[in-house]
Amino acid sequence: MTEATPLCDIGFIGAGVMGKNLTLNLADNGYRVAAFDLDNERLNSLLNQDALERGDQPARVIGCSSYTELLSRLSAPHLIVLSVPAGEAVDDICHKLIHAGIRADDIVVDTGNSLWTDTVAREKDYEGKFIFFSTAVSGGEIGARFGPSLMPSGDPFAWSRIKPIWEAIAAKVDPETGEPIESFEPGKPVTEGEPCAAYIGPGGSGHYVKMVHNGIEYADMQMICETYQVMRDLLGMSALDIAQVFGEWNKGILHSYLMDISAQVLATIDSDTGQPLVDIILDKAGQKGTGLWTAMSSLTLGSPAPTIAEAVYARSLSALKHERVKASTILAGPDQTEFSAEQKNDIIQALHDALYCAKICAYAQGFHLMKTAADEHGWQLNFCEIAKIWRAGCIIRAVFLQSINDAYERNNELQNLLLDPFFAKQVSVYQQNWRKAVANATLSGIPVAALSSALSYYDSYRTAVLPANLLQGQRDFFGAHTFERTDQAKGLKFHVEWSQPGRPMIRIK
Ligand code: 6PG
Repeated sequence: MTEATPLCDIGFIGAGVMGKNLTLNLADNGYRVAAFDLDNERLNSLLNQDALERGDQPARVIGCSSYTELLSRLSAPHLIVLSVPAGEAVDDICHKLIHAGIRADDIVVDTGNSLWTDTVAREKDYEGKFIFFSTAVSGGEIGARFGPSLMPSGDPFAWSRIKPIWEAIAAKVDPETGEPIESFEPGKPVTEGEPCAAYIGPGGSGHYVKMVHNGIEYADMQMICETYQVMRDLLGMSALDIAQVFGEWNKGILHSYLMDISAQVLATIDSDTGQPLVDIILDKAGQKGTGLWTAMSSLTLGSPAPTIAEAVYARSLSALKHERVKASTILAGPDQTEFSAEQKNDIIQALHDALYCAKICAYAQGFHLMKTAADEHGWQLNFCEIAKIWRAGCIIRAVFLQSINDAYERNNELQNLLLDPFFAKQVSVYQQNWRKAVANATLSGIPVAALSSALSYYDSYRTAVLPANLLQGQRDFFGAHTFERTDQAKGLKFHVEWSQPGRPMIRIK
């Protein structure tokens, strides 16, 4: 380092897909970044890209060959951002930074898809050594490069330092229309509009919110896939025909990033075979775990998210390819029906409405889960802000999130999104077609697990008396688990001596 080399604003560790793009985004916004990656090739690719994009301007990303050099290149107190795989790698780097001389007032920000409880533990573990802060990032490669949705949480002092940086690199929304303001040109970041970065709350809460975002993402993706399968297998439509339908749907209430990319995937032709690419892609879904964590959290907290759980199961079932192929030759389904063009159009419309209603339910489940978690952990989550920062940059960005924002603006204490007057009305208007779509698919033997679980969720949630009275009777019968009576005060427990003559009832003290 020469005397004249100015110190950098930010240290960045990890030059993988997300790290590289976040670093270039920071550089675009005028920040000087000292970058480090154990993999030299990745680091060089980042440095070359920065040099290319800066043209005749001085480079804004400086490569470092060790953690010690990284610290020496930064102005103090140091701000270091990590973009490394969730899990052990985060702690490994934190320990290396301690060894390299990081100080108590330095800040380390984890931007990976970490399990939120790990984040809570890390905040404690590194107390006194440095400030561990977290920021969950959504938006994939393009989002990271040109504007992601950011969910920061942790130490408020650290947030005051990081806030202007995150607000600069985040996706932006037009405050008037709620629509994303986008630029995909290196060196020309969007500087106006509302940034999709908002402080979520105490340590771990940002990663929890991102986890639920991913759970909703799983549900949303699965429901789109189910409508595709019905069109393919029930209506015999080609990938290109379905792409066209999705393209149309994307112009209305279903307008979203996931709808858009689904249409694009369906419209893509495989260059080797000349077939639609989607017909060549193996039907085995992968998963990295965030959907599973959401489903597990919903089960643990007793905040039902069946559509998210079904989406996780659907991926697991898809992975049983070998078994499914075998079963398809053994297990019978119903006879197939032929449809007229008019019937086909009706079915497509029903699928559209089903997708819309089921989507509302999936989001309702996700927001309900966040509310339950907030109550459990004492977080003050601002649901209006959460919906706002999901309007652009993230994978589940959709026109629909403006309506969710409006719903929580009306009432941040809303028990369930379905109870908001706008959404209650929407579902009541479209529900008949939702029922038809699920019934059609079921009668034809086409699985629509997520669409139908959302419908069952809706029907269960709106049912004043569920059959859990019989269930409580069963539990008391075999396990003396007791029950409450509808005609007695809340909390009073009763048990029937089921094996005694006359089955006497006793009140449990
Ligand atoms: C995002 C994505 C991103 C990633 C997830 C899901 O918000 O940018 O959710 O975090 O795509 O890890 O991955 P899986 O589908 O592999 O679980």
